[in-house]
Amino acid sequence: MRTALAPLIICGLSMSGVTQAQEQAGAVVFKACQSCHSLDPAKAGMAGPHLAGLNGRVLGSAQSFDYSPGFKAAKAQGFRWDRERLLGYLADPDAVVPGGWMSPPAGLTAADRTAVANYLLGR
Ligand code: HEC
Repeated sequence: MRTALAPLIICGLSMSGVTQAQEQAGAVVFKACQSCHSLDPAKAGMAGPHLAGLNGRVLGSAQSFDYSPGFKAAKAQGFRWDRERLLGYLADPDAVVPGGWMSPPAGLTAADRTAVANYLLGR
C-alpha cells in the first residue's frame, strides 16, 4: 500500500502536478462559459466572442463579433486583457467595461475566477 501510493504523492507535490490540477480546475469552470464562448477563433455565431489567446489581447477585438458600445470604447482606448483585469471583469463586469452585455455565470467563487483566469490566460 505504502509503495503503491508513494509515486502518486510525489506526483501530486511536484510542480507539474500542481499546474495540471490548476489547468483541470480552470477547464471545469470554463464549462460554464462554453455555452457562449469558444476557444476556437474560427467558430462564429456564438452568443459571446471567442476567447482564444486572451493574454494580452485588446478588449473587444475578436473578429466577427459585434460587441457592445462599452467594449468598443475599451477597444478604442487600447485596453488589454491581463490577470487583474480579467479577475475584475468576472467579479464585476460593469466596473471594468461599463454597460457591457455579459453577466458571468452565477455562483462563481473567487477560487473559480482565479482558476478560469489562469486557464484562459495560459493559452
Ligand atoms: C450567457 C452567455 C455568456 C456566458 C455564460 C459567459 N459569457 Fe463572457 N461574454 C458574453 C458576451 C455576450 C460578451 C460580449 C460582451 C459585450 O459585448 O458587452 C462576453 C465577453 C467576454 C469577455 C471579453 C472578451 C473580449 O473579446 O474582450 C471575456 C473575457 C469573457 N466574456 C469571459 C467569460 C468567462 C470566463 C465566462 C465563464 C466564467 C463567461 N464569459 C461566460 C456572454 C457570456
